[in-house]
Amino acid sequence: MSKVIIEVKNYSWQYINTTEPALRNINLTIEEGNFIGVIGPNGSGKTTLAYSLDGLIPGQYNGIKQGEVFVFGKEVEQYEKGDLQRSVGVVFSDPEAQFTAMTVEDELVFGMENLGMSIPEIRERLEWVTDLVNLKPLLMKPPYEISGGQKQRVALAAVLAMTPKVMILDEPTSMLDPVSRKRVFEVLEELKKEHRNTIIVVEHSLENLIPLADRMILLSNGELVLEDETHRFFQNMPLLLEKSVYPPGALLFFYKLMTAGYSNHQLPLTLDEAEKKLKDLIKNRTLQGEQR
Ligand SMILES: Nc1ncnc2c1ncn2[C@@H]1O[C@H](COP(=O)(O)OP(=O)(O)OP(=O)(O)O)[C@@H](O)[C@H]1O
Ligand SMILES: [Mg+2]
Repeated sequence: MSKVIIEVKNYSWQYINTTEPALRNINLTIEEGNFIGVIGPNGSGKTTLAYSLDGLIPGQYNGIKQGEVFVFGKEVEQYEKGDLQRSVGVVFSDPEAQFTAMTVEDELVFGMENLGMSIPEIRERLEWVTDLVNLKPLLMKPPYEISGGQKQRVALAAVLAMTPKVMILDEPTSMLDPVSRKRVFEVLEELKKEHRNTIIVVEHSLENLIPLADRMILLSNGELVLEDETHRFFQNMPLLLEKSVYPPGALLFFYKLMTAGYSNHQLPLTLDEAEKKLKDLIKNRTLQGEQR
């Protein structure tokens, strides 16, 4: 059994001056090295959960908290200011909010300096992330003068450069073109395989998320409705559809075949799995036909 990194216990959060809690009685355990996908409709509490795991809530927001959020065994409120953020890095869905420096390069360097890295190490990492998310042409530009997608890549690079033990990415590819989006997920795959970081990704693009996610979380109206290993999670199609989750085409296709009585096995999640499943199905049907 892996080490538990995050433990959320009977946790509720209500922002000040609102009438309903944004998160209600959440219980959740996340183990070291896990890749977690978080989904749910707009306003379901995904960003609020991300901020709660980083201590931004309740640190920088006013509201009512109930229950506890433990990260590395310590309640988030027990950390000295800034300490938790060294081990838990967040890429915000609004990258603008994150920038403080005059150039993209400084933006990347400041974060690493704050962690106390040596100059040679900073140089090496700067080169690494610049290549990784293709930032070379942007390094000398002010962060506020670049496009939305470029900002998102800089925000991601800034967190990657620090490679915190836990990385939380809130819709990290919402402004990216398909090629850049694919690249981000390749980078995340690399981190998962080689560095064993714990990665939590809020993302609507399930095609990209599913192949990487070990476990999935569904939030709806502030409640954790479903949390499970990714394959088991997607076998709950009636619930997912009821909660407005639109699964990838291949999965939906097989769910329709299943409800029509053609297959009663596990639903495939990816195109590759679906192809294999369809071939098996056709083969079995042909065999049955020959036997008749
Ligand atoms: N700063 C805030 N002050 C008051 N209420 C807030 C604040 N931020 C979020 N909320 C409310 O909390 C609830 C959850 O919002 P949250 O941003 O966590 O949802 P989300 O799942 O991230 O949505 P989206 O998919 O749109 O990003 C919503 O009802 C929202 O209106
Ligand atoms: Mg959000």
